[in-house]
Amino acid sequence: MTLSSENIKNKWNNIYINQNHVEYAPAAVLADNSCLLPSAGTALDIACGVGGNALFLAAKGLQTSAWDISSVAIEQLSKIAISKQLSIDAQALNVSASVFAQQYDVIVVSRFLDRALTSSILHALKPGGLLFYQTFCVDKVDAIGPKNLDFLLHRNELLELFASLDLIYYRENAAIGDTSKGFRNEAQFIGQNQ
Ligand SMILES: C[S@@+](CC[C@H](N)C(=O)[O-])C[C@H]1O[C@@H](n2cnc3c(N)ncnc32)[C@H](O)[C@@H]1O
Repeated sequence: MTLSSENIKNKWNNIYINQNHVEYAPAAVLADNSCLLPSAGTALDIACGVGGNALFLAAKGLQTSAWDISSVAIEQLSKIAISKQLSIDAQALNVSASVFAQQYDVIVVSRFLDRALTSSILHALKPGGLLFYQTFCVDKVDAIGPKNLDFLLHRNELLELFASLDLIYYRENAAIGDTSKGFRNEAQFIGQNQ
């Protein structure tokens, strides 16, 4: 079943209204590789939720935009940003090709997958721009993340989707070996636009 954008918005608004613990840690692919970030420039956090990535990018001195379909998440992010004295252009919108209007030095996507956005994301990277991507895989070993296969990456899929970028970093441990160790459930990708 395909949900309408109104249904998706309502679903996520309910999740954010009911969550009593607000988690705003950045994705590991961003936090662990933050030495790659430029010292100034623009950044975009796509499907930001309460903006763990956006807050991190803004704190690093980047002029940061953040988009999410959930108005509740955007409201929560805006409040956190004010309390941390960080400036973030946070917008409640349904991400689609038509909302991309400029290019960024850094784009981050975590725990969100819409394959139809691939070329928009690629075009929205400035020359030399970096894409940090981390999301759930079909080979995940724990009962976390989406169940719907449409939202799960196939093996090496981020490498295929963003093959036109120079590869800076990739990690996908799948379900190989001792699954109590390693980086499981998600794939991590960093690519740079030429
Ligand atoms: C699992 S959460 C991830 C949030 C955040 N990126 C993180 O890593 O914590 C997925 C997010 O995608 C957002 N989302 C889902 N569909 C969307 C769409 N069509 N446009 C914009 N945001 C969307 C949801 O509202 C939700 O905040």
